[in-house]
Amino acid sequence: MGYPERRLRRLRRTPALRRLVAETRLSVDDFVAPLFVREGTEEPVAIPSMPGQVQHSRSTLVAEAKRLSALGVPGVILFGVPERKDSVGSGAFDPDGIVQVALADVRAALGDELVLIADLCLDEYTDHGHCGVLDARGQVDNDATLALYQQTALAQAEAGADVVAPSGMMDGQVGAIRAALDGAGRCDVAVLAYAAKYASALYGPFREAVEVTIAGGGDRRGYQQDPANRREALAEVALDVAEGADVVMVKPAGTNLDVLAAVRATVDVPVAAYQVSGEYAMIVAAAERGWIDGPAVALESLTAIKRAGADFVLTYFAGELAEALGG
Ligand code: PBG
Repeated sequence: MGYPERRLRRLRRTPALRRLVAETRLSVDDFVAPLFVREGTEEPVAIPSMPGQVQHSRSTLVAEAKRLSALGVPGVILFGVPERKDSVGSGAFDPDGIVQVALADVRAALGDELVLIADLCLDEYTDHGHCGVLDARGQVDNDATLALYQQTALAQAEAGADVVAPSGMMDGQVGAIRAALDGAGRCDVAVLAYAAKYASALYGPFREAVEVTIAGGGDRRGYQQDPANRREALAEVALDVAEGADVVMVKPAGTNLDVLAAVRATVDVPVAAYQVSGEYAMIVAAAERGWIDGPAVALESLTAIKRAGADFVLTYFAGELAEALGG
């Protein structure tokens, strides 16, 4: 007596006991790998702020997709780095744009083995770096942008995307894209909505990866969400589901685990989370200094993201962890 009635340490004693009672299990099935493909290059180009990640050429992209698929990773999401940018981001919806040709390459090489997701946005392709087109006052024009998102969705579907993933945070983007796809007889193509996407400082390395600078030192706070808000995320998610989103996503993942849990409790569609470039870079940089055990921290943070409610996670650690988890 005087000792605790209930002892929790008994079930933590051996690895096998811990494995038996684990509430969250991470497997290769949980990962989607983000991949960058650069137009007009033969060799992959390193991304300094994302060690281990590269801008692929068309041929190294196919090789990497094959490698990931062989490791058991179920899906990839493609981002393009075009040779030329313009005011309306034509490269996003050009049938010969870099993501479209890359989708066709990977589809030809791998068939239906790998889920092909296309990020659907204009920012990589606009010379001003915003996710939409600008009106006469220099502000992002919501509805003019929707028309270009529709064209982009159709080009990506035609090129072979299984899933299109609008990430621009324009109002009505999911409904507009769903209508365009259905109108073209492409009710088979799914929409993964970046539903609760915050205006985060953690996208810095990604902007280096896709060579995006927002004109005039601007930011995306006029369309992405304020990190201060959670109820607003639920409103975004509800609208996207009502507009036909097949999957909703919370991004960044690690700084928004409360939002992720709330979204998971609210909707019946699959919920994705994006462990973004800055989350990746922080872990890799600290590990490079020998300050943390990088793979262990990656595993821990992805486990937390899954525990919070993610059904799958977009992560730059997908390939590395797929190897570690043994496929
Ligand atoms: C927009 C887009 C961004 C990311 C994914 N899609 C950048 C942004 O909103 O500025 C960020 C992903 C990351 O940081 O890993 N096309």
